[in-house]
Amino acid sequence: MEALLRQSRAMCPFLNKTSPATLRSMSMSTSTNTSVHSAAPGGGAMSNLQIIARRCPVMGKALSVQSSRVANSALSGAFGGTRAYHAKVPRARLHTNAPNQAQAHDIPAVRRDHAPFSPPMSRAQPAAANAQQHQHQHGVAPEPPKPVKFDYDAFYQNELDKKHKDKSYRYFNNINRLAQDFPRAHMSTPEERVTVWCSNDYLGMGRNPQVLKRMHETLDTYGSGAGGTRNISGHNQHAVGLEGTIAKLHAKEAALVFSSCYVANDATLATLGSKFPNCVILSDSMNHASMIQGIRHSGAKKMVFKHNDVQDLEAKLASLPPEVPKIIAFESVYSMCGSIGPIEEICDLADKYGAITFLDEVHAVGMYGPGGAGVAEHLDYETYANGRNPRGTVQDRIDIITGTLGKAYGCVGGYIAGSAKMVDTIRSLAPGFIFTTSLPPATMAGAQTAIEYQQAYQGDRRLQQLHTRAVKGTLAEMDIPVIPNPSHIIPVLVGNAEVAKAASDLLLEKHQIYVQAINYPTVPVGQERLRITPTPGHIKEYRDHLCQALDSVWNELGIKRTSDWAREGGFIGVGEKDAAAVEPLWTDEQLGLKDFKEDLKTGQGALGALENVLERERVQVGQTVAAAA
Ligand SMILES: Cc1ncc(COP(=O)(O)O)c(C=O)c1O
Repeated sequence: MEALLRQSRAMCPFLNKTSPATLRSMSMSTSTNTSVHSAAPGGGAMSNLQIIARRCPVMGKALSVQSSRVANSALSGAFGGTRAYHAKVPRARLHTNAPNQAQAHDIPAVRRDHAPFSPPMSRAQPAAANAQQHQHQHGVAPEPPKPVKFDYDAFYQNELDKKHKDKSYRYFNNINRLAQDFPRAHMSTPEERVTVWCSNDYLGMGRNPQVLKRMHETLDTYGSGAGGTRNISGHNQHAVGLEGTIAKLHAKEAALVFSSCYVANDATLATLGSKFPNCVILSDSMNHASMIQGIRHSGAKKMVFKHNDVQDLEAKLASLPPEVPKIIAFESVYSMCGSIGPIEEICDLADKYGAITFLDEVHAVGMYGPGGAGVAEHLDYETYANGRNPRGTVQDRIDIITGTLGKAYGCVGGYIAGSAKMVDTIRSLAPGFIFTTSLPPATMAGAQTAIEYQQAYQGDRRLQQLHTRAVKGTLAEMDIPVIPNPSHIIPVLVGNAEVAKAASDLLLEKHQIYVQAINYPTVPVGQERLRITPTPGHIKEYRDHLCQALDSVWNELGIKRTSDWAREGGFIGVGEKDAAAVEPLWTDEQLGLKDFKEDLKTGQGALGALENVLERERVQVGQTVAAAA
């Protein structure tokens, strides 16, 4: 009971501010009001806790359905009391079209339970007081006051006001990326051209000629939509082919495709967390909202460990009994700061404490590893590059890998990959997979082509890494504060929500550069930033333009430079005096920078030498893309 109370309390918007002692006493006390409103579903009086629960938007519905079922069976007379509480309505009856069955829900108890929650403290109370006074003065009972209805508009306005007040209100820009002119886009009119510097189409696969060709062909042959869920008419050769390719990509037995990786993460964690008995999910503090939501939906106990802190994770694992099922949920590349998870150490801890690992590779697939399978593959670069047996590699040790088809693969959709039994379990149990229409055939076919293209060709991700190095190098020379990290993400620290938005607006309006400001709640207050993501298409002309524009905006708005942060002792890696240098995950050797080293020896600066390499790469990649068309 105690554990149940604690769990319910954490999830409930009404009760989470109430102390356990109060909850306990409420669960044991009953209302003195004996009206029908406080009759327990199984007969008898409701506890005060049940009365409050009925007003909850989540529990209220469940209780009302339960009340209606119980009311029906209680009326039938045979099983009143506690047994009625557990009585089940046969499934088929709920699915019938017969009007008398459909009315099962339309009983007064249900209407009561849908009463507005938290009605505005409006006319109702003064009216009641006036009525009492009226009766007292005139001895005649007046008309009862009309019930006050929930003010939906006031509710929306209040929520929006809160977002404006804490500066977390989101403004969307109308950006129409041009397939023939990547990474250029136009705004609301075709004449308003801008360069996009914050797209997650990290490799420009959204315009890859092979992907587009396959999508056009599939669209013409099989039409626009899948026509159903996977179970009912939406399973096809495209899903089979795509899942086979994903399983191969990650060297796993099986894979399963979802509408998005948000859904994949949510559905998988919610299903496993709720099905494993007494499951505990250990979650990195910087995990994406999709995982946080999945954990919430599972109802499992959650333990948050400090970002990338294996000591903290181990302390938490050690506090749990060995027999308890545990899932460690974390990411490879954290997209807002570019940090990379300690995957191998986490696998070691999982082995030691009997946990399974759930790794989100959303910001890594396509871009790391010799085949583009992500950071886990990258950590055993040689093994995979040389086609050796992958058993025992870091990727092999991960139990569940999740990825997206919507970022580096340029399409849309998400997936999980792992053992055949795990995948079959999710396929069989996860509502987020079962009860939704499959991805369109053309999307699945395009995504499969994108994965296969990136498995076979390294040029795009090498160029992406080289452009990233070039931008980071130039910004460092310009004293523009980049949060150091080993990945392809360039988070430029601003440190204030309004200034970050002003910087983004100025870049767009004055310099025709689109970089979205990243504010709370995506990043903590005070760590607001511009998040820049170079792609293979960000050639020197665009990079020079970006760096000069940033320099100009930093001057115009008086934003702190790296040296300013250093004078204050540094902040989140920016301007920190004794911070160790952060090496990129892609090493010089992996990027094939032999000529780069030669150029350095001839006395060119690092950036000059890098530009030479980039020019050679640009020509090669251009030829490959043209050949693929
Ligand atoms: C870490 C992480 N996981 C999952 C997702 C969701 O992926 P998708 O866009 O496929 O829904 C995102 C989306 O941005 C993400 O950043």
